[in-house]
Amino acid sequence: MTTDAIKITGLRKTYGVSGRQPPKVALNGIDLTVPAGAVFGLLGPNGAGKSTLINILAGLVNKTAGKVTIWGFDQDVNPRQSRAAIGVMPQELNLDPFFTPRGALDVQAGLYGVPRAQRRTDEILAMIGLSDKAEAYARTLSGGMRRRLLLGKALVHHPHILVLDEPTAGVDIELRQMLWHNVRRLNRDRGMTIILTTHYLEEAEEMCDEIAILSQGAVIARDSTANLLGQIDTRTMVITPESPPTTLPAATGIEVANRSDGSLAFTYHARRTNGEEVLELVRRSGIRIRDVRTEQADLQDVFLNLTRAGAA
Ligand SMILES: Nc1ncnc2c1ncn2[C@@H]1O[C@H](COP(=O)(O)OP(=O)(O)O)[C@@H](O)[C@H]1O
Ligand SMILES: [Mg+2]
Repeated sequence: MTTDAIKITGLRKTYGVSGRQPPKVALNGIDLTVPAGAVFGLLGPNGAGKSTLINILAGLVNKTAGKVTIWGFDQDVNPRQSRAAIGVMPQELNLDPFFTPRGALDVQAGLYGVPRAQRRTDEILAMIGLSDKAEAYARTLSGGMRRRLLLGKALVHHPHILVLDEPTAGVDIELRQMLWHNVRRLNRDRGMTIILTTHYLEEAEEMCDEIAILSQGAVIARDSTANLLGQIDTRTMVITPESPPTTLPAATGIEVANRSDGSLAFTYHARRTNGEEVLELVRRSGIRIRDVRTEQADLQDVFLNLTRAGAA
């Protein structure tokens, strides 16, 4: 058991010139440590470099510079051991259409040198809910089933670390819940370290102990989920009054501003103040509400704020 599941220092990736494409810097000097046993979230807008980072961990993309240590094994010194420590569910659906789920899991286990006696194919099929599809060709499986099969493939060699690249992008609620249920179980019951990328802030909040935010190939924030979300939990309640108030209401923890359309914007931290307190303030001020709506920072705002803060 190591204390760091992953340790990355000075990681750079420049995709080479291909055809008329100029070289592209995808990772611009990443330092990142993921503690063993964590559920770790990697967040960032499209093109930030999340998949590049994950594919380097998986050994699918060659890094340009830097050092990657997986479960204590330097990727360049002990490629076999470092690969064996990690299982990756990729973002792309890359399944051979002529394999059945059982066949695909067997081939994967073979690739990782798992002896037949140690294969838990049936257990994995049950876990991903594909027992009754074990002998069906992959091309006949639905998109959701294929994703589940990718999860199964990532697990055949019993890795210490499971990496999921946008596992819930575009999937239905049922599959999302099934995935998270499995991920939680693997983390809690087997102590598996989980690294996942997601676009959904709520998902990161619900699942992850720690989060790193990637933007343009650099880590722009890295903290516990509670700390990070604490910084970005501003909500704004916008109230259109029946008639303009003579004085602006005031209360600690609630920032009040007049908007040009005559509405009043109440900005507060959702963790410290709840919407009811804002409404209470409005009522106390004698303001009659014609209309009310709320605005909240989405991940895009968060990225923008952090990027600006970093640039300042
Ligand atoms: N094979 C590739 N060849 C050239 N550029 C690539 C390749 N893969 C990704 N990129 C570029 O690298 C950057 C990071 O991409 P990616 O790692 O897929 O980001 P993310 O997963 O965060 O959306 C993007 O600008 C993307 O266009
Ligand atoms: Mg990606």
